[in-house]
Amino acid sequence: MRERFVRIPGLIDTHVHLRDPGETHKEDFYTGTSAALAGGVVTVIDMPNNKEPITTFRRLEEKKELVKQKAVCDYGFYFGASEENSRHAEIEVLNRVVGLKMYLNLTHGALFVSNLDKIKEHLSSWPKNKPLLVHAEGEKVSMVLNLLKLSPRRVHFCHISLKEEIEQIKKAKEYGLPITCEATPHHLFLTEEDERVLGPFGKIHPPLRTSEDVDALWRNLDVIDIIVSDHAPHTKGEKLSSLPPPGVPGVETTLLLLLTAVSQGKLTLERVVELTSTNPTRIFNLKPAYESWIEVDIRESYLIENQNLKTKCGWSPFEGKRVTGRVRRVFLRGQKVYEDGNVLIKPGFGRKIYG
Ligand code: NCD
Ligand code: ZN
Ligand code: ZN
Repeated sequence: MRERFVRIPGLIDTHVHLRDPGETHKEDFYTGTSAALAGGVVTVIDMPNNKEPITTFRRLEEKKELVKQKAVCDYGFYFGASEENSRHAEIEVLNRVVGLKMYLNLTHGALFVSNLDKIKEHLSSWPKNKPLLVHAEGEKVSMVLNLLKLSPRRVHFCHISLKEEIEQIKKAKEYGLPITCEATPHHLFLTEEDERVLGPFGKIHPPLRTSEDVDALWRNLDVIDIIVSDHAPHTKGEKLSSLPPPGVPGVETTLLLLLTAVSQGKLTLERVVELTSTNPTRIFNLKPAYESWIEVDIRESYLIENQNLKTKCGWSPFEGKRVTGRVRRVFLRGQKVYEDGNVLIKPGFGRKIYG
């Protein structure tokens, strides 16, 4: 039997929305990166759908300046694809971001590319060696795969949730397309049945799916390259309003749910490390973080409780769920930065990846 306390690489969560700047009433870079450490995450890559979307070099620079004194874990940014910037993603941008994010469905925020020519322009003009991520649901997944068959390039598919989607991606990989994909804990551990109970707190894009879809994700776990949180905090008040925004927080619960699945024999700890550290490092061209690791207690069993969360929004769709596994300590670049619920370093310790 494995030791109770194990050391594994810190998680690299390449899909978070930390809301800073513009919507800091939901989360800010300090609370969001603190929640990351509590979840065993040492690096986050932040999405560009800020209130003022990150679609120009100027906005990117503003964001960088605004958040750098707040970060307690390492971080990087994505650039946002718009209908206007498909030809001239300024060259200065390229070395300062981890990749380009293109929204092909409407979701939280204004970022959305619907024009087919603009989609093609982004696919051809963004450098082939740099990650290009798509938020694509259902037929938009098929559309991108068809475009890639004509003109292959690396593309990473965010939050795959449907049986048909994972099956199509599996086929496309077998066909030889250089694509990768991710799944989220909410799509792996919750179904539309849970949404009935959670109400607006289970509203998310893509939506929670049937148990058949969830089973298909688990059955095709070898097709899934990475697991990310899609940490998308909104306040309780906003969720209870007449038009609840889509999204659920998750950066501090991903690993707990995965360790619980390990304790149930659904996957191995080695596979968790691949999905949350080795593969994201490779896919997103990051430097391996040999000096960053976490210590977890893989036996402790307890309930996820809203009151113990560090996210500013103060709730989780997994509240009340029993998990097996706790993050005890986090080491970032050799330094102990988190221990038993406490962030031990000052804001600003987190470093930006690229530029
Ligand atoms: C995300 C958000 O709130 O920024 N919401 C969501 O439902 N996942 C946006 C997104 O990832 O689509
Ligand atoms: Zn999305
Ligand atoms: Zn997202």
